[in-house]
Amino acid sequence: MNFETIIFEEKGHICLITLNRPDKLNALNATLLNELQKALQFCSNSEKCRAIIITGSGKAFAAGADIAQLHEQTATTGAAFAMFGQAIFTELEYMKKPVIAAVNGFALGGGCELALACHMRFASPMAKFGQPEVNLGIIPGYGGTQRLTTLVGSAQATELILTGAIINAEEALRIGLVNRLIDPESLIDECIKIAELIASKAPLAISASLAAIRSAIDCGTAEGMESEARLFGEICGTEDFKEGTAAFLEKRQANFKGK
Ligand code: COA
Repeated sequence: MNFETIIFEEKGHICLITLNRPDKLNALNATLLNELQKALQFCSNSEKCRAIIITGSGKAFAAGADIAQLHEQTATTGAAFAMFGQAIFTELEYMKKPVIAAVNGFALGGGCELALACHMRFASPMAKFGQPEVNLGIIPGYGGTQRLTTLVGSAQATELILTGAIINAEEALRIGLVNRLIDPESLIDECIKIAELIASKAPLAISASLAAIRSAIDCGTAEGMESEARLFGEICGTEDFKEGTAAFLEKRQANFKGK
């Protein structure tokens, strides 16, 4: 697939999406967001794709919403502008396939919000994170107030959002914003290895795990437990469940088919 502002690559079962406006630090303009959405929809519909990695070209993951486009917003258009980005990031968050953010550099504003919408975040020690919107006289609008608070807790999220501070990768790791730091030269290869490990598991069990984890965020514990039990039951009816357990008992490698 050919795009103007992203590079889309298929590597076996893994799809790699590289945000590619390096001269603008991969700022998220409308074209980029539309292309990202198209690429994610392709991944959703692809039988081959089992995991997705999002990264950025050059020195940024993404330095936020495109401030030139942001500047044009008014009280009439602003909510729709936010909802446009929110909708795409929510689609991403609810993908049935795992999405990994390989954060190579600046992840600011909408860039940080994009990383937050991914299921896991691995970062280069060079990465920098922040929600600097208050410096521009605005607030995070692509889900940052919600997802950052859920991920790192209200105290850390409030400090980051109210001060607009930019933190380094070590600090992001300390507050639980990222899973792990990985040397820049091996960041993508390591993320591909993690994605391949996940891709080697039963795809329906991976999707069900994502859905059950999601319910831990979206629901109370009782409803979440119900959701876990329902998903567990559904997975007990899959061919891959029979294959996985039979392979263990027969001391052989499982051959999962996603059925
Ligand atoms: N939207 C539009 N353009 C952006 C951008 C954004 N969010 N972030 C960076 N750019 C552009 C710059 O305008 C510059 O373009 P130019 O060369 O045509 O002037 C180019 O990307 C390089 O950025 P520059 O500021 O020169 O790089 P730097 O290394 O000196 O600084 C940052 C890097 C990330 C600290 C700085 O670019 C920055 O503060 N960006 C805005 C971050 C932000 O507020 N994001 C939230 C948006 S809601």
